[in-house]
Amino acid sequence: MSSRPITHVHAEPFDHFVRGRFNAWFFATLDTYINRVTEPLKQAAFGSLAATTVVELGPGIGANLTYLPAGALLVAVEPNTRMHAALAARCERAGVELRLIADSAERMPLADASVDEVICSLVLCTVPDPDAVVREVRRVLRPGGRFRFVEHVAAPPRSVRSRVQRALRGPWGWTFEGCDLHRDTGAVIERAGFERTTMFERVLRGSIFYPVNTAICGIAWR
Ligand SMILES: C[S@@+](CC[C@H](N)C(=O)[O-])C[C@H]1O[C@@H](n2cnc3c(N)ncnc32)[C@H](O)[C@@H]1O
Repeated sequence: MSSRPITHVHAEPFDHFVRGRFNAWFFATLDTYINRVTEPLKQAAFGSLAATTVVELGPGIGANLTYLPAGALLVAVEPNTRMHAALAARCERAGVELRLIADSAERMPLADASVDEVICSLVLCTVPDPDAVVREVRRVLRPGGRFRFVEHVAAPPRSVRSRVQRALRGPWGWTFEGCDLHRDTGAVIERAGFERTTMFERVLRGSIFYPVNTAICGIAWR
């Protein structure tokens, strides 16, 4: 597929300079590893994705492009300017058309009930207002449209991981541009008022990233 222009339709991006560059490097370098560790959850959430237009919240450098059919249009809601060049290059290599919305998912410039599929991975941990984001997702989805998600979440209360998550919350959040290790994202999705939600929680076996190894994945239907 030939290169198509990126359309900036709305712009309120952020740039954390050194941290942004670090995160773009980190997720590009560990992309294969993170995708391998999360593969069972991504398969469950994204494996049946067949739509030709997909809205992705916070796609970063394009971690989920392999789940999109070639020729698909990716509407990428990614406010972090340090991710944009790698995302555009990867979309081009994957034959996926990119429409970049350089703004926060808390307020998407998309019409009500206009979208069939919204996906995200490892994003609701990081957005400043996860309830507002999930409300936005529900607003833009058509009745019957799907929100597919893979997220790391707060470990069970009183577990060792839960204590580690709370201890590391501050420095981890600073390093990973707002990522909250101890967020109950499942509850956020449950209370958003979707018609039906299926989700399950897993401990990611074999992952070296102990604090983020409690994860959920699922599909919520509008
Ligand atoms: C931990 S990274 C995950 C990136 C990618 N989804 C992945 O699985 O590798 C979190 C992503 O969320 C993006 N992000 C942060 N705040 C956001 C917001 N308010 N709306 C949309 N995306 C946001 C970040 O820029 C970053 O790309």
